[in-house]
Amino acid sequence: MAGLFQNESHEKKHGLLTLNEAASAVGRPVTLIAEYLRRGRITPRDASGHRMFPFDSDRAYVRLKELERFIRLVERDIEKYQAEGLDADLGFFDVPERERTKHVHRLHPYLGKFIPQLVEHFLSRHFQPGQWVLDPFMGSGTTLIQAHELGLNAIGIDISEFNCKIAEVKTRRYSLDTVESDARAALRRLEAFAEQRPGGGSLFRGIDADFHTDSAYLNRWYSPRALQEILFYRSILGEYRHSDVLKMILSRSARSARLIPHYDLATPKEPVRQPYYCFKHKRTCQPTDECLKFLQRYTVDTVRRLREFDRLRTAAEIRVVHGDSRAVELPCLVDGVFSSPPYVGQIDYHEQHAYAYELFGIPRRDDLEIGPKSEGKSASAQEAYVDAIAGVVRNIRRFVRPGRPLFFVANDRLGLYPEIARRAGCRIEAIRQRAVSKRTERDKRPYSESIFQFAEKRLI
Ligand SMILES: C[S@@+](CC[C@H](N)C(=O)[O-])C[C@H]1O[C@@H](n2cnc3c(N)ncnc32)[C@H](O)[C@@H]1O
Repeated sequence: MAGLFQNESHEKKHGLLTLNEAASAVGRPVTLIAEYLRRGRITPRDASGHRMFPFDSDRAYVRLKELERFIRLVERDIEKYQAEGLDADLGFFDVPERERTKHVHRLHPYLGKFIPQLVEHFLSRHFQPGQWVLDPFMGSGTTLIQAHELGLNAIGIDISEFNCKIAEVKTRRYSLDTVESDARAALRRLEAFAEQRPGGGSLFRGIDADFHTDSAYLNRWYSPRALQEILFYRSILGEYRHSDVLKMILSRSARSARLIPHYDLATPKEPVRQPYYCFKHKRTCQPTDECLKFLQRYTVDTVRRLREFDRLRTAAEIRVVHGDSRAVELPCLVDGVFSSPPYVGQIDYHEQHAYAYELFGIPRRDDLEIGPKSEGKSASAQEAYVDAIAGVVRNIRRFVRPGRPLFFVANDRLGLYPEIARRAGCRIEAIRQRAVSKRTERDKRPYSESIFQFAEKRLI
């Protein structure tokens, strides 16, 4: 095992070790290291340091730093989670924040996203390169992106048009030099606009605005200066070839520039216009007065993230479908499903991006959103939810090749999934429970979720 390349100096060249070298470096049996790789706990790499897929223990390499960090975490964490009956393999406790939010996954914030490593874990075990995977609750496109990295074709469906735009911008192929020059040119014009104001900077406040909007939302949630910057940028972005990327940069910046406390970016209640105590930074913070600094930051960040993902691209196809998964027709058959449905009364998926709908005049379909927070968790809301999710499964099953798995990730604390499976004409073939260690912003409570594997019920 792993002896083939032992004489080559990969450790020096790429920070890589063969499995034998790694085993002696950390004082563990080589079979255990191979098992970590097989289970996806440590990334198996080829001789150039790229992720190895499919995994071949005879030719695999590992990064020593990654292995050492993982072993320290195994020593500290694993027993605790196993004792709670949760699948420690699926906790991904050892995955650092930058990997959870790697490349385009952090292109635009989105509440309710799942961790890319969970998707990768299931896709790499249940699908082969060239097959098609479907996500009927695509959200910000995590399944599509991870499928693409693995060479799987993917289709994502979502009822929220803005979520479809996020997923499209993340996954489209671009001439990245043009994207970069477009984004920098638009930013320079905004900087010039900000400069030319009498005195520039904070003198924006109180001056007669050049740009007006009738949107009560935009007038309520932004300082006069931030709103001028946003409206100016919006007025020029249509002149650029990659205006959709510029819209994403503007939307992300506009989200950060709202008059909201730093600790409550996802669910703000009232605009803050005075200094306030910030639970996130543990000090007094000022309400945001401008949008320019966010546009500067996110212009650079967006181009960098698109370039990073571009380096991992495969030939696989990606299709985004805007529609209601209970009724949508698909262009082809798929080889399985991996998805995280909305849950009952937890998140309003349109409302979380209200600023983007207002800014770009995108039509909303809140009425077709399944399980919105605004409808609560009452018995009738639960019944409507079960019926709707079962309706989605029944509809999409028509496009899934016989015998192929449908995975649904949900924190089913109300125990609704057995009934959903029954109404959809499926059986639950397997359930795995995972611990979720990190959630967004202030919500740090321990939390677990299930991965349900549905299979079609056969009439024999
Ligand atoms: C939990 S989120 C999915 C998040 C996704 N896994 C990610 O990582 O970004 C559920 C998604 O289902 C979408 N949704 C709700 N009702 C829908 C419907 N009737 N048809 C299609 N999508 C729907 C919501 O807009 C939301 O984006």
